[in-house]
Amino acid sequence: MGEMEDFCVTECTRCPALVDSRSQIVNGTGPEDADILFVGEGPGAQEDSQGEPFVGRSGSVLDDQLRIVGLDRDSVRITNCVRCRPPENRDPNTDELENCRGYLEQEIDLLDPDVLVTLGKVPSEHLLDRSVAVTKEAGSVEEIRLGGAPRRLLICVHPAATLYDRSQEETFESALERAADLAGVDGSAGGQTRLDGF
Ligand code: URA
Repeated sequence: MGEMEDFCVTECTRCPALVDSRSQIVNGTGPEDADILFVGEGPGAQEDSQGEPFVGRSGSVLDDQLRIVGLDRDSVRITNCVRCRPPENRDPNTDELENCRGYLEQEIDLLDPDVLVTLGKVPSEHLLDRSVAVTKEAGSVEEIRLGGAPRRLLICVHPAATLYDRSQEETFESALERAADLAGVDGSAGGQTRLDGF
């Protein structure tokens, strides 16, 4: 207990543009023994002001879909590829992704999840290091080496995609079901320690 907390990123000036655009660093949230780690792209406006990942509209979609498959937000860990909000919600660039990669890898190593779920194109391509057709590949699982260890990664669409295209809801839901299956967890899993602020 505590290792994650100790590792919480509280100061970083590696990305000048993001230092200017952020109001705070947004660390991952969720229990230190979560079996599933969701990885998004980077904080948006709501996340930047509240200091928590996925608390805006995408976050409500994620919460709803988690509930549908019998999981809840307090039992999973949620983080992003970059911890600072990019200006005007642009995608993080390659340098920014690389600058933040070490933090993500350390979070993954400390958590040691059964499965990583990448939410959308940016985290999928960043961690798989190839181009990804997310809609087509959602629900597929790959083994990757990350931070020195083999990891199971499941590709998922970004929750926001379901807001623009309702047909994506089913894709999203099936991917979450697969993640729960891979992690061997269901809605009754409890007793995990919630640790905010990695
Ligand atoms: N989208 C992301 O990728 N991450 C967030 O934290 C919020 C929205």
